[in-house]
Amino acid sequence: MRIGILGTGVVGQTLGSGLTQLGHDVTLGSRSATNEKAAKWVRENGPHARQGTFADAAEFGEIVFNCTSGNVSLDALRAAGEANLEGKTLVDVSNPLDFSKGFPPTLTVCNTDSVAEQIQAAFPGAKVVKTLNTMNAGVMVDPALVPGDHDVFLSGNDAGAKAQVSDLLRSFGWRNIIDLGDITTARGVEMVLPLWLRLMGAFKSPIMNFHIAR
Ligand SMILES: NC(=O)c1ccc[n+]([C@@H]2O[C@H](COP(=O)([O-])OP(=O)(O)OC[C@H]3O[C@@H](n4cnc5c(N)ncnc54)[C@H](OP(=O)(O)O)[C@@H]3O)[C@@H](O)[C@H]2O)c1
Repeated sequence: MRIGILGTGVVGQTLGSGLTQLGHDVTLGSRSATNEKAAKWVRENGPHARQGTFADAAEFGEIVFNCTSGNVSLDALRAAGEANLEGKTLVDVSNPLDFSKGFPPTLTVCNTDSVAEQIQAAFPGAKVVKTLNTMNAGVMVDPALVPGDHDVFLSGNDAGAKAQVSDLLRSFGWRNIIDLGDITTARGVEMVLPLWLRLMGAFKSPIMNFHIAR
């Protein structure tokens, strides 16, 4: 599959590497077509890897991933271009964390709204699926890093898009995929981040994940 990734940070690079290793063609998108982090990632990830602007990546992808900070995701997606997102599955892994006053960060949107809902409202032609935001980037593409059973959540309005994303998740090795429901359920998974950050502090490691026992 052709996949566009918006974001050159650790999440974009890690998901991009995981997807190229599965044989997908990936364009890593940035504000600049010559972003140095993306250029290094291309050099290290072989023939399936390329770079471009946010618009290049979104146009290239049959599926598009949003791997930018939740505070700037709408700006990045506007730069990607509404027409380049039309009809496509848009996987949102962002979190609305504001670190401007230090640690712990606050949430810039919560309770009655979420970044995922804001994206869905701003780009009604895209099929937004929220997933993977509740864990460290390394765990996203290699769930076996955390021993035992643990879970990944899914939120979105389009059943077909969620099925497509579930297939990708299974190809990374995910077995426990919990479909929470429509895109409003993204509020819960975005608001779990304050807990996740405190768990990382308590365990002194980001290699962990949630498991829902019932
Ligand atoms: N770190 C983790 O393990 C983890 C886990 C789960 C979820 N997340 C979430 O995943 C997302 C990505 O995290 P990250 O640490 O990989 O990257 P990040 O530093 O949050 O974001 C990097 C991207 O944001 C773009 N960006 C920065 N300012 C911008 C602006 N004003 N307008 C448009 N784009 C802008 C950058 O563009 P350029 O390429 O042009 O510099 C870059 O591509 C975040 O929402 C984070 O909360 C992270």
